[in-house]
Amino acid sequence: MDDPQLRETRAGSFGANAALYAEHRPGYPVDAVEWAIGDRVRVLDLGAGTGKLTEALLELGVDVTAVEPDPLMRAELARRLPDVPTVDGRAEAIPLGDASVDAVLAGQAFHWFDNAEALAEITRVLRPGGVFGALWNAYDDSVPWVKTLVSLTATSVSNPSAPAPRHVPRHELLGEVEENTFKHQVLRTVDSMVGSLRTFSHIAVAPDDEREAVLAKAQEYLSGLPDSRGTFYQPLLCEVVRAVRR
Ligand SMILES: C[S@@+](CC[C@H](N)C(=O)[O-])C[C@H]1O[C@@H](n2cnc3c(N)ncnc32)[C@H](O)[C@@H]1O
Repeated sequence: MDDPQLRETRAGSFGANAALYAEHRPGYPVDAVEWAIGDRVRVLDLGAGTGKLTEALLELGVDVTAVEPDPLMRAELARRLPDVPTVDGRAEAIPLGDASVDAVLAGQAFHWFDNAEALAEITRVLRPGGVFGALWNAYDDSVPWVKTLVSLTATSVSNPSAPAPRHVPRHELLGEVEENTFKHQVLRTVDSMVGSLRTFSHIAVAPDDEREAVLAKAQEYLSGLPDSRGTFYQPLLCEVVRAVRR
């Protein structure tokens, strides 16, 4: 994203829709999270939001600390997962000690961080042999209706020329960056799909009339699909990168 101010606005847009986010954004497949962390047990969920990735980590039985800067996202996480230690903080200044965790994961969040500053902090809080993993739930646009939905919901603040966010730059304290993709799906109604769309930053920060027009278009398109009466599945690709701390 070329415009730093727009980037900051989009990075800070999630809290206004925290409850909707928690209700309608997809979670993460446990096999993807397991691939990212291996058998490591002390895990930091960085940019934890409302706790979508935290929930998958809890299913694996690990010890999770959640760090999240947005008070509204943090409050939603604390309400849904009251037993998880949840701390105010940013990726560029992580409020944890040196070598204090075995894994740092960022779900749908690494592209919002200042990558260089965040990697300096991530490698500081990781013990040697620990792992950094970044996960993104991407649209599976090999499916025709998904491809159409993606094109219908671009807004004036989308950045189609930007590279896919699934990228972690090399860092001297991290080993080779490995990648993997896990297919999964989420059960939807038209309303839950549109509710999820409303929480995307390129839609949330668009001018009011543009946002509502895009969402109305999405609602109309989805409602007209033969399979969208009642419930249907949204196919997703969970894209994961991981790198071990030297
Ligand atoms: C798309 S949400 C992802 C939330 C959660 N990880 C998930 O997978 O659902 C991005 C989150 O990153 C947080 N965020 C934005 N900038 C951040 C930063 N510099 N450091 C840490 N978190 C940040 C936002 O507040 C938001 O909760």
